[in-house]
Order: sequence, then C-alpha cells, then structure tokens
Amino acid sequence: MKKILLVILVALFLGQTANAQKKIWDETEAEKAERLSWWREARFGMFIHWGLYAQAARHEWVKKRERIPDEEYQKYFEIFNPDLFNPTEWAKKAKAAGMKYAVITTKHHEGFCMFDSDYTDYDVMNTPYGKDIIKEWVEAFRAEGLGIGFYYSLIDWHHPEYTIDRVHPQSAQTQEEYNELNKDRDMSIYREYLKNQVREILTNYGKIDIMWLDYSFPGKFGKDRNDWGSVELMKMVRRLQPEIIVNDRADLKDYWGGWDFTTPEQFKVESWPEIDGEKIPWETCQTFSGSWGYYRDEHTWKDKKQLLVLLIESVSKGGNLLLNVGPTARGTFDHRADNALSEMGDWMKYNSRSIYGCTQAPEEFEAPDNTLLTYNPDKNRLYIHLLDYPLKNFLLEDYKDKIKYAQFLHDASELQMSEPYGHWIQQETGENDVNLILPVNKPNVEIPVIEVFLKE
Ligand code: GLC
Repeated sequence: MKKILLVILVALFLGQTANAQKKIWDETEAEKAERLSWWREARFGMFIHWGLYAQAARHEWVKKRERIPDEEYQKYFEIFNPDLFNPTEWAKKAKAAGMKYAVITTKHHEGFCMFDSDYTDYDVMNTPYGKDIIKEWVEAFRAEGLGIGFYYSLIDWHHPEYTIDRVHPQSAQTQEEYNELNKDRDMSIYREYLKNQVREILTNYGKIDIMWLDYSFPGKFGKDRNDWGSVELMKMVRRLQPEIIVNDRADLKDYWGGWDFTTPEQFKVESWPEIDGEKIPWETCQTFSGSWGYYRDEHTWKDKKQLLVLLIESVSKGGNLLLNVGPTARGTFDHRADNALSEMGDWMKYNSRSIYGCTQAPEEFEAPDNTLLTYNPDKNRLYIHLLDYPLKNFLLEDYKDKIKYAQFLHDASELQMSEPYGHWIQQETGENDVNLILPVNKPNVEIPVIEVFLKE
C-alpha cells in the first residue's frame, strides 16, 4: 500500500515539474498584465476579413461550402483588383466608431496572401492589383493611431503540401480515402512554409501589436499543434515581437506563453471566462451579419441597439469586442457596415467613458433591472447603462452610502437624488436605498448612461 502511495506521489511530482516546464517563454504574471494593459483598456477593435472570397460575395468559406476546385477558384485570383481601396478612409471610419485597434486577414483559409511573400506566387503581387495591401493598410491604420493586428490562417486550402482534412474543400469520409488523397502531400513542408510566412509578416511591417492565428481542430481527420509546429512557431512569434499579444487558437492552452487571451466567437458569454477559478483575458469576435467575408445576399444584420449591447455587455464582463467588417472586392465597406459603424460612433462620441479603461463592476453593486454595469477602477466611477428607459424614479438598492454624485454621461447633467419614492402606497425599501430622479423623456441617446461618482 505504502509503495503504491509513493509511486503516485512521485508520478504527481514528475507531472508537476513536466507541467512547469511547459513554457514558451519566461514572463511573470505581472509582466503579462502590463503587456496586455493597453489592449484591456482599448476594449473595442475592428476585425477585417478580406480576400479573394469577397468577389464570390457568399461567405469566406465558399471554397469549402461549394467544394470549388483550385482551377475554378483561380478566376478570383486572376481578376482581383480593388480599385477603390483607400485604407486611410477605413482607418478613419474605425476610429470614428470608437475602435482602438484593428486586425486584418493577411491570409485566410483559402490560402491567398494579401501581402508580398517570398514563399509563394499566390499573393497579391501577382494579381492585377499588384501592390502589397498589407503594407498600405498598416501604414494607414498606424497613421491614425490604431493598434495593428494580423490574422493568419493556419489552415490552407491552396498549398499543395497541406494534407486534406475534415475542413478542407476536398474532405472525404474514410481513412482509405484520406490516405489516397494525401499520399503525395508532405505536411512538414507546409509547416515550414507557414513558419516562414509568419516570420515575414512579423518582420516586414514594423511593430505588430496582435497576432491572431486561426485555427486548430484536433481529433479525427483534424489538425493540432503538432501539425502546425505551434510550439516552435510561438517561440518565434515571441522572439520577433516580444510585446505582441496572441490569441488562443494554436492549440497551446497548456503552455505558459502559448496564448494571451481567449476568443469566444459569435456568442455571448454568460460570465467572465475562467480557467481553474482564474478570470482570463478575453475578446469576443462578432459579425454585423452572419458572415465574416463580404456576403451580398445575407440579410440578418444586427441593429444599432444589439451592437451597442454587445460592446457594453462584453465590458461589463471584463472583455473586449472585435467587430468585423467584410469589405467588398472594390475595396469599400458596404452601406450597411458604414451605417452600423457610424451609429456606434454617434453613441461612443458621448459615452465612451463607460467603455475605455472599464471592466466588471465590484460585486457589492447589484445591477438594477434592464441595466448593464461597467466600472472604471482608476476613476472609481460606476456606469449604469439603461437598456430600457425607466419612468422618472429609478431606485438603486443598497447604494446610498456609496454614491457621491450622479449625472447623465452624454451631457453631464445632474441627476438629483431623493428618498425612495412612493405615493399612496407604502413600498418596501431598505435603509440604504436611494432614488434617482430621471427626466420623463428619454434623452436622445440609444442607450443612456448614468455616471456615478463613488465615495472613496
Ligand atoms: C472561424 C472561421 C473563420 C473566421 C474566424 C473568426 O474560425 O473559420 O472564417 O475567420 O472564425 O473568428
């Protein structure tokens, strides 16, 4: 019995040290927090999905969805020429919407490179457009003071050595079929190619703030970190750009330094995501409609309020929002995207103080019905977002001894406080409750915000 216990203890100990050695690089928790601080404060970024698929205009996965062979997909490469591309205009729109950083697809699953690459002919330089889109984009966005992020697809549906898997346009059913399809393909050559390309994009464009690798799908007919060579890849990323912030899709969740933030996609989290009880940095990525790439005939566009709630709710749970635009093949944002961005900008112009530098409110503050709370720890202010405008009296339960002053954020107009209000009836209220007197008419703001100055 004792022996067994000893063996278990030794195994546990060895397991622990093996774990402790699973490191991509050396950095303390505090150093990591410091490295991520600008991004945490920024809270709101623009995702841009742009590639040859914009011409099909029916989803960036069109090659897979319709199982289009390379020869047929080639037509998009031969005519790609976004003559109206003006990245300065894009950057100004992102900034006016209140976004602080942007992440663009340097290569999506289709395998086409929007940058000048020494390792393939399948890049923008060989299309009629003939100029390095990534270079033009980086210069314009940086000039507007926005953070620069690169999305790079680990998946590649064009590279001849990339082995066919279950998400590939030529996906099959049985092991025999896969063996046949992959008999002349060598993943180690692709692995080298992908590393070379990531080196290129992290070397040729100056300081890059975010690296967004997409994505791993371990299991049967799938791909994981061994297929990508993720450990070596991530070491190189950290070496080339020590301050960069990386997402979590290279299948390195159990490595220290293998990722910085998690990426809930197209859904709202119930609460701040955690690992082993620790709250972790997160960013949700979302589309205006269902597709990332430009999709002409897709009509399920979220409205102004839904988009604002997405942003506010993310911050209220300690996270960021990366909101996607899929530009057209002419190089423009379509009118629905323009419209959504400018509506968000209208709100952000007056209310961004409840977003930047804000996070989840301390637990002692309970959110009143139909509201979302955010909190700025440096300023010690609480922000109450009114999703459904109340009628005149707005009761804050158990807030009285915590509030110094309250005002609307958009116009800095005072909101007077009173004792809990009741007329003809006796309401049950607590000693520490307080009433805010709101104007009857809802201010001309989609989601009005109350800014509460808290007592020290
Ligand atoms: C998915 C999709 C992709 C999109 C991405 C954004 O992984 O494959 O098309 O780029 O998510 O998060």
